[in-house]
Amino acid sequence: MNIAIIGSGGDGAGMNECLFNLCNLLKKHKIILFYHGLQGIIDNEIANIDLKTIKSERKKGGIIIKSSRSSEFLTENGFNKCIKNLNKNKIDLLIIMGGNGSLKACLKLNNANVKCIFIPTTIDNDIKFSNYSIGHSTAIENAVDFIEKVNTSMIAFDRTCIYEVMGRHCPDIALKVSKKVNACYCYTSSSTKQDLLKAVKKELKNNNAPIIILQENTTDINELKSFLSLKLKTVDVKSAVVGYVQRGGFATKEDLQMARGFAKKTAYCVKKGLSNVLISYDEKLKNFKCVSLEEIKGLC
Ligand code: F6P
Repeated sequence: MNIAIIGSGGDGAGMNECLFNLCNLLKKHKIILFYHGLQGIIDNEIANIDLKTIKSERKKGGIIIKSSRSSEFLTENGFNKCIKNLNKNKIDLLIIMGGNGSLKACLKLNNANVKCIFIPTTIDNDIKFSNYSIGHSTAIENAVDFIEKVNTSMIAFDRTCIYEVMGRHCPDIALKVSKKVNACYCYTSSSTKQDLLKAVKKELKNNNAPIIILQENTTDINELKSFLSLKLKTVDVKSAVVGYVQRGGFATKEDLQMARGFAKKTAYCVKKGLSNVLISYDEKLKNFKCVSLEEIKGLC
């Protein structure tokens, strides 16, 4: 069988480990790796990378075959070019490692009769059909590490600091990071400035350097900082955007383990002749399962 693999959308640590295991477990098939995700298929950018090279990168963040967010894929012309190149390379199965936008693309390709297997990879953990997506644990650990380092200086000056974390529209990273760094408030889409102020005032009674976590895309960090400075008057309020450090560095043990699990389940599906599924992690059962793409259509 000719199997194509791409990494699509925001990268997450653990994608390289997943890719290595896919290539290794599926080595009796012909594996075609495309650079730059969907855009790479449109441009027919085939990657000639051997297993040894992928293996050497397995613990690193990023994605060795590179990624993209393809706006061309959303056009009729781009979509047709993508199908044309899949046919030209005689691809029997397309494995997509990606986030929400890539899942939509996967369903669109599947509607055009492209056989697909989807693996959730996004730091945001916002794929609603899986309890885990590769990269989430590393993003949390990196954010915690960043905040703990910056906060030693905040403590030295008795400063209050707002830390903005990634997560797009999903609060998972913000909430989990808040817990780990013992934040006095986690600002999400359901928060109000008044609630935040109340929490900070309360915390200031025992702690001169309160930590506030802000979920990105909920409110402007500078406005929030000005608001707190105005209300708290004598308190020195600082802000820091954690940003892309969350996607960088090395994968945590959890992400490496998850990546291997997702790859193993994918290889199992291929062996059993199963396609058109999303590989999902079930937190309760601590197990990987398949969700049919047909079931998902209309739900996202
Ligand atoms: O989806 C992953 C993510 O890192 C989000 O948390 C963030 O909002 C977005 O990607 C950033 O996108 P880009 O990499 O295109 O700047």
